[in-house]
Amino acid sequence: MAILPATQERLQIKYLSHSSLLTSTVDGQDVIYGLSQTPKCLPPKYFYDEYGSQLFEQICQLPEYYPTRTEDLILSQYADEIARMTGACELVELGSGSSTKTRRLLDAHQRLTHSLHYIPIDVSGSILTQSAQQLLQEYPTLEIQGLVGTYEQALVELERTPAPSRMVSFLGSTLGNLNGQECDRFFDDILEALHRGEYFLLGVDLQKPKDILEAAYNDAQGVTAAFNLNMLEHLNQRFRGNFKRQNFEHWAFYNQELNQIEMHLRCLTPHTVKLETLNLQVEFISGETIKTEISRKFNLQRVQAELAEKGLKPVAAWTDPKDWFGLILTQKV
Ligand code: SAH
Ligand code: AVI
Repeated sequence: MAILPATQERLQIKYLSHSSLLTSTVDGQDVIYGLSQTPKCLPPKYFYDEYGSQLFEQICQLPEYYPTRTEDLILSQYADEIARMTGACELVELGSGSSTKTRRLLDAHQRLTHSLHYIPIDVSGSILTQSAQQLLQEYPTLEIQGLVGTYEQALVELERTPAPSRMVSFLGSTLGNLNGQECDRFFDDILEALHRGEYFLLGVDLQKPKDILEAAYNDAQGVTAAFNLNMLEHLNQRFRGNFKRQNFEHWAFYNQELNQIEMHLRCLTPHTVKLETLNLQVEFISGETIKTEISRKFNLQRVQAELAEKGLKPVAAWTDPKDWFGLILTQKV
C-alpha cells in the first residue's frame, strides 16, 4: 500500500504582505488616499478580515445572491471539458476564498488522473489557510502552495513549480470589483504570469434586470449590510481607528449607465474619525458616502473581445440557461 505524505508536507503558505498583522504602517496608503478623495472611497480588499470572509461565505448562500450557485452550476457541467482541454496543469487561483467551486475543477482533473498542484492566492490569510487544510484532507495527492497577499504582489511572486502547464483562474466575477484601469493592468499581469499556450479561466457576472441585481446586494437578512459595515471594524483593528458602525448605513444600487452595482457606506451624523497608525484624521458630514465597492456586470462578447485584444484568445465560453453568468476559457497566444 502506498504511503501518502502527511498533509503538512503537502502545504506551504507564504505571506507576501502585512495582511496578517493587526497593525501596520507599511500598508494603508490606499486608505489615506481614498479617504482624502471627494467623494470618499475605500478599496474592497478591506472587506476581507477573518469575519469579513465568513460574512462573504454567508452571502454566497443567500437566496438573493445568485452568482455563486449559477457559476457553480456552469462549473459542474463543464469542468470535465475544461480539464480535457487544458490537460494536466498547475492551477493558480486569484481571490480563492473558500475554494468551494474550485473543487469542481480539482475533481475533474483527478478523474483524468492528472497530478494536482494548486496555488491559491488571497489577501485573507485566515480563509486561505482554513480552506487549504480542508482541501488537503479531501484530496490525498494534492499539493498546495498558498500565497497570502494582493493579486499584484502574488502575480509578481509566482515561481514556476516543476509542474506541467499553468492555468490561472479568477472566479466569482471578482474581476467586476476592479475598475476599467485596474482591470487593464490586471490583464497585463496575467499575461506576464503565463507562457504561450497556457490558460486563463474567468468567471463574469452578466448584465440583467436591475431588480434582480439590486436584490442580490440588499438581501432581506442584512448580511450584505453587515459585510459592508464590517470594513469599518477591520480598519479600526488594523490601523487603530475609532470608526463607529452606528454612524453609517449600507447603501447599494445599480448604476445602469455604468453597468455596475455600487456599494457605499452613508454617514448618518457629522463626526470625526481617527486612524492612529496612519496618522489620519477625517471629517464626515451627514449624508456623505464612502464608496466601498463597484461590482461591474459584463457583456460576454465584449469581455471576450477585450481579452483577445490583450493576447488572451478565447477558446470556449459557457453560460447557464438564463445567461446570468459566464465562464470564459482563454489561452495566451
Ligand atoms: N473566488 C471565491 C471568492 C470570491 S470573494 C468565489 O468565487 O466565491 C473575493 C476574494 O478575493 C476574497 O476571498 C478576498 O479575500 C479576495 N481578495 C479581494 N481583493 C483582493 C486583492 N486585492 N488581492 C487578493 N485577494 C483579494
Ligand atoms: C467578491 N465579489 C465578486 C462580490 C460581488 O458580488 O461583487 C462581493 C460582494 N459584495 C457584496 N456582495 C458580494
